[in-house]
Amino acid sequence: GCSSSSGGDGSADGDGTVTVGFAQTGSESGWRSANTESMKAAFSTENGYDLVFNAADNDPAAQIAAVRDFINQGVDAIVIAPIVEDGWDDVLQEASDAGIPVILEDRTVSASDDLYYSWVGLDFEREGTYAGEWAVEQFDGTPTKMVVLEGTTGSAPANDRATGFDDAIAGSTIEKIDSQTGEFTRDGGKTVMEGFLQKYGVDGIDLLYAHNDDMALGAIEAIEAAGGVPGEDIQIISIDAVKDGLQALIDGKINYVVECNPLLGELAADLVTQALAGDTAEKAIYVDDETFTAEEAAAVIDQRAY
Ligand code: AHR
Repeated sequence: GCSSSSGGDGSADGDGTVTVGFAQTGSESGWRSANTESMKAAFSTENGYDLVFNAADNDPAAQIAAVRDFINQGVDAIVIAPIVEDGWDDVLQEASDAGIPVILEDRTVSASDDLYYSWVGLDFEREGTYAGEWAVEQFDGTPTKMVVLEGTTGSAPANDRATGFDDAIAGSTIEKIDSQTGEFTRDGGKTVMEGFLQKYGVDGIDLLYAHNDDMALGAIEAIEAAGGVPGEDIQIISIDAVKDGLQALIDGKINYVVECNPLLGELAADLVTQALAGDTAEKAIYVDDETFTAEEAAAVIDQRAY
């Protein structure tokens, strides 16, 4: 290849193929499945890529080990959806030393942005703000007991969705009575909600803020099993806007959904192309999110790709 410092040899491989290692978080949610599909479609053989895919089952140490394997294999570029924000400095430095560009997609890291080429994803804090603003509109003035299902502990979306929401409801009559991680999974949401219901009863909870649709969907099962009516006895706000989430919104079981767009593959592939061409890119590329009421969801659900 023509690249002097690269661990691999970029698009200048003999066969023109670009080898990309992609370290995915795992397969915790409907959002994640859509994101994986989007990445696989963008980094396809037809598009000239040889994609080495790893899903780390949400184990941060396993994900770092996968990235280290990519470096040792001498891939041309590495794409990471970082499970958690912390702990990336060493392995990103190793990739940098090996001359392999790293593109982050979806989640951010706390490491210096000198250690990677660029990040593309969503503004998680703004998603939390949108959710919190809706809660204030609906509930401020009435004493409201809220529980929270958090995403993966230490992940950027769990951290930032909490911050955006908490800032938005500050000074309102909404009281957070409990908050625990449901790991962004349906099972996790169900189990943690069962615990909340045992502790406070259906009558002791007015509002649930779930950091993603899957946990909200799990919580709906728990509320129904406890004899409650989701969306009425306990109102629900969630984030992602995958089809199952929008359907529950249309059915009145969820009351408000904030979108998190998982279709980041082509944007990530563009960044890989730019990195291998030696171009400079913005360090952070934000994709816009929308919000949905039941009516708005009904108008778009048939056209949604995920
Ligand atoms: O990082 C994005 C989050 O990860 C999504 O909101 C959640 O569903 C996923 O698992």
